[in-house]
Amino acid sequence: MANRGGFSSRIGFIVAAAGSAVGLGNIWKFPYEVGQNGGAMFLLVYLLCTFIICFPIMVGEIAIGRHAKRDAYGSYATIGGKKWGYIGLFGILCGIMILSFYNVVAGWAFGYFIEISFSNLLAETSFSEFFGRYTADFGDNLIFSVCFMIITAFIVVKGVSGGIERASKILMPMLYVILIGLIIYSLTLENAMDGIRFYLLPDITKLNAETIYSALGQAFFSLSLGMGALVTYGSYIDKNQNIVGSAAMISIMDVSVAFLAGLLIFPLVFSQGQTPSEGPGLVFVALPGVFNAMGPLVGRIVGGGFFLLLCFAALTSTISLLEVPVAYLVDEKKLPRKAVVWGLAAFIFVVGLPSMLSQGAVRAFSSMSWYGDKSFLDFVSEVFSDISLPLGGCLMSIFIAVRWKKHNLSEEISHGFPNYKGSIHEKIINTMITVISPVLLGFMFINTVLSKFFDISIF
Ligand code: PHE
Repeated sequence: MANRGGFSSRIGFIVAAAGSAVGLGNIWKFPYEVGQNGGAMFLLVYLLCTFIICFPIMVGEIAIGRHAKRDAYGSYATIGGKKWGYIGLFGILCGIMILSFYNVVAGWAFGYFIEISFSNLLAETSFSEFFGRYTADFGDNLIFSVCFMIITAFIVVKGVSGGIERASKILMPMLYVILIGLIIYSLTLENAMDGIRFYLLPDITKLNAETIYSALGQAFFSLSLGMGALVTYGSYIDKNQNIVGSAAMISIMDVSVAFLAGLLIFPLVFSQGQTPSEGPGLVFVALPGVFNAMGPLVGRIVGGGFFLLLCFAALTSTISLLEVPVAYLVDEKKLPRKAVVWGLAAFIFVVGLPSMLSQGAVRAFSSMSWYGDKSFLDFVSEVFSDISLPLGGCLMSIFIAVRWKKHNLSEEISHGFPNYKGSIHEKIINTMITVISPVLLGFMFINTVLSKFFDISIF
């Protein structure tokens, strides 16, 4: 078989997979979901979902990819036969749809970087009004999201270790540094502690079915699970890597960035008298206020720096989103990588246009009466991420339980983890993947679909 490329080292894989996981999901989506879904209670459920449900699924995905050494479709199809390949195809479809709207939001972050650094965003009187105006402006959005897609495609053309790995290694640590610096600053502000209370003291009355679905969907999205990204990345690693250890590190890095983002945003929101349930504009409205308070020059530098790093975090995620369908067409259809990358980037960009126009630019996309007056972007994100990713995780677990079988999973994991067989890790992972996940995620899926689309709620 042709050389598919691969990560040059264990740490390279971890950094790239963590780069895929850490992105807008952590810094943009996580805080606003916490804000809309009852604060600390959401955080708690999200943490439980991540470590109990998602972690074993991550191990399973990486193991499938490494065993089959193929793209998302090919991995399921080689192990299980063509029919099972549909799980991979479904993931590829979700990846395409997620990238279509993700690129739009990444364009906002890119635009904010430019507007803060080189224009006068920080002198605006109302950041909330600015955000509304900004996202409704088609021209700006178009330019910045085109740029973003081009940069993504450029790096993906370079292939796995050339582009993806090198970019992630430098940028991830910088993101931590700027987040922690800003947190320290934000904790000194007036009323910061109200924000901390909202974020860290759970209120049991806030626990309901909606909180649980949102937290589960967010955990899958944030860890890049359920759509074959980690099957694809797993296919580029070699047998001596400890999959369980790597998955643990990836999960911890991902959760820690989300946690830090919340620790930064809520003190800011409360000290500026904003509402935590603001929605998708939350970070774009809360952050400029604090950069503004730092004074014109420092604000420009720190604010510009922050949004630039957010763009990089988003970029390591868009790279992995694009890599999934690219790997499929290159591995299965034997098409040339470069043409596939540019063709897909253009196609996905076009698919994202309605999402881009759904923030006020075009009414029909902005408030869709057949979908609870929500926007097209909400629709794509809810259907292809919140609902489909946990479903993808459910199908993967079923695949392991009934087709690949757990002893083969154990066999694969034990390369790179010699004492795995017979260990407590094996028992937990097997039980989670073959019993608990299929049942729980299957139930959640049915319940979400019934309540979202048919207004019937089982629990
Ligand atoms: N995990 C990424 C984020 O949190 C988004 C993503 C989802 C990337 C699915 C790849 C696959 O921003």
